[in-house]
Amino acid sequence: MTNIGILGAGRVGTNLAGKLSAAGHHVTLGSRNPEDTAARATGLAPRIAFADERTTARTTDIVINATPGDSSLDRLTALRAELAGKILVDVSNATRDSADGLPGDLCHPGSSLAEKLQARLPDTHVVKTLNTMLFMVMTAPETLATPPTAYLSGDGEDAKKTVTGLLGDLGWQPEWIEDLGDITTARATEAMILIVPHILRRHGFTPFAVSLAR
Ligand SMILES: NC(=O)c1ccc[n+]([C@@H]2O[C@H](COP(=O)([O-])OP(=O)(O)OC[C@H]3O[C@@H](n4cnc5c(N)ncnc54)[C@H](OP(=O)(O)O)[C@@H]3O)[C@@H](O)[C@H]2O)c1
Repeated sequence: MTNIGILGAGRVGTNLAGKLSAAGHHVTLGSRNPEDTAARATGLAPRIAFADERTTARTTDIVINATPGDSSLDRLTALRAELAGKILVDVSNATRDSADGLPGDLCHPGSSLAEKLQARLPDTHVVKTLNTMLFMVMTAPETLATPPTAYLSGDGEDAKKTVTGLLGDLGWQPEWIEDLGDITTARATEAMILIVPHILRRHGFTPFAVSLAR
């Protein structure tokens, strides 16, 4: 059992919280207004705890960033002390919206949010994963007709090993996990978001992942 904190109580955060808690982990869902979140997420209580973002980062061992990517850099940099020595699993996408509200462009072209987070949080092991699929696939990869891919990017080999274990708890088979290398490889997987709005406009929110086929 690991003490896992999840920042952001939206679709991604609550979905991950439910599955990781069911897998036996102690989960704290961190949000800007924990009381409102607890009242909303009645299906998750009492199995998981609710706290503000700073308390969540301070009191847990692995922290997942499931907050809006375009503002994540400042939000997480402010938690530098709380995140020191921990693994930060970044599943966010840092994009600017198009007129229809879907992701339009990258906030960090020529770089990535994950690289910038690692630079701002030198005492934290940043691992990028799961940002290349709709949220429901993150916790139910076996439901797709074609086996999906979960990419991993990060400088710390031990940290990536730990995150691989968590992916297993979410239902990911080892052969579906592709370790691309160090944190600079997140530049490639963050850019994959550019295909997502086009798929959504054609097919709606039907579950999919941007995967490798061999
Ligand atoms: N939706 C997907 O299918 C999907 C797939 C892959 C990656 N992602 C990425 O995962 C992250 C979360 O996505 P999501 O779909 O769960 O988003 P969402 O439903 O909009 O939830 C994001 C949550 O972040 C929290 N938050 C903290 N600071 C915020 C701020 N300044 N402005 C707005 N919200 C703030 C909010 O929770 P509180 O109000 O409770 O604090 C909010 O519920 C995003 O970076 C997204 O790009 C999403």
